[in-house]
This record gives sequence, structure tokens and C-alpha cells, in this order.
Amino acid sequence: MWGEHTESAMSPPITRRHLAVTSLALAAAAGGWWWSRAPEPRIGGPFALLDGKGNPVSDRDFRGRFLLVYFGYTFCPDVCPTALGKLSSVLDRLDKAQLDQLAVVFISVDPQRDHGARLSEYGSAFHPLITGLTGPREQIDAVAKAYGARYRIAGDTSRDDYAIDHTSVVYVMNRDGAFVTQFTHNATPEAMLAKLQAVLK
Ligand code: NI
Repeated sequence: MWGEHTESAMSPPITRRHLAVTSLALAAAAGGWWWSRAPEPRIGGPFALLDGKGNPVSDRDFRGRFLLVYFGYTFCPDVCPTALGKLSSVLDRLDKAQLDQLAVVFISVDPQRDHGARLSEYGSAFHPLITGLTGPREQIDAVAKAYGARYRIAGDTSRDDYAIDHTSVVYVMNRDGAFVTQFTHNATPEAMLAKLQAVLK
């Protein structure tokens, strides 16, 4: 389930790799009667994080809306900008009634560098609906584990130019906070739009 790509020769000396990861496939989606009896992987769960202003934000704050969840970091050279740019282009094609039912969180796995205005403004620069969240390492690790997201710090965190390899998946949770579907890094905008329009109807 792990795929890896290496950046171009323009990369700085630190090897900046990202893990553009294909998703966990739901067992049920594979078909076959026995699969339907297998327990589905549980994706999602409670979280307690902080926004750029240091205000606590939890999963419960999003009840009643569909919630899109993405893990990354603002210094990401390629994967996050690509994923958020694509997501933004999809959100731009939803109408107001659909957007009103939706919230998006960008969970930074890099609290050392992502906080304050930088965290607040990074997501909203892609789309006003995207809220940046982060928190203490233990809280980040708990929510990442709950979603099946993974990351790995690559480089020396005493310098300011370390990279973080991370999975790139948009998780879609329903109004009750339960998992609906997920979009892998290579999902097309058309497929994402169609799926979102189907669940937001
Ligand atoms: Ni990234």
C-alpha cells in the first residue's frame, strides 16, 4: 500500500520523499459474500487539536456537516500543494448549498513549524473552507493512527528545512463523524466531484 516517488533534481540536498499512498481498500468493496462478513477497517474517531489561534477544535465541532480530513504540513514542497490544489478545484465546483454542508481540515503533522498565522492561512489560501489544525505530538499521532494516516520525519529537525514523508489521502466523514469514503492522491477531480455530489445530495 506504500508507493513512493522521488522529487526532481531541483530538490534541496535533503532527500525529500513523499509517500503517495494508495488507500486501504475496504474489504466489503472487494465483493464476494465472505468479504461482507469481514469487519471493515475503522477509519476516523475522536480528535482534540488546536487551530492556528491556539483554540481547541475537536471532531464534535463538525457534527452535522460532512468533514474532509487531510494530513500534511505547510512546508511540503509538492504533495500537499498538489493535493490541496486539486481539492480546491473540486470545492470550487460545488454550489453553496453543498458547501454549507461541508467542512475541511488540514491536519499538520509538523507542529514545530506549523502554528499561528502560518497554520491558519495555509489551507485557506487554497480554499476558504480549509481549516488548519495541529496539536501536541501525542494528539497528532492519535488522530493519524485513527485515520490510518502515516508520516515520517526525514532530516534534522534542529534545522528548518527538514521534510516529512506522509500519506496523501482525503478522508470523507459523514454528519455523524463516521467514515464514508476516501480519495487517494491519484484520484481524479472528476471522480472526487462525482462522489462528493452523491453524498451531499
Ligand atoms: Ni505534503
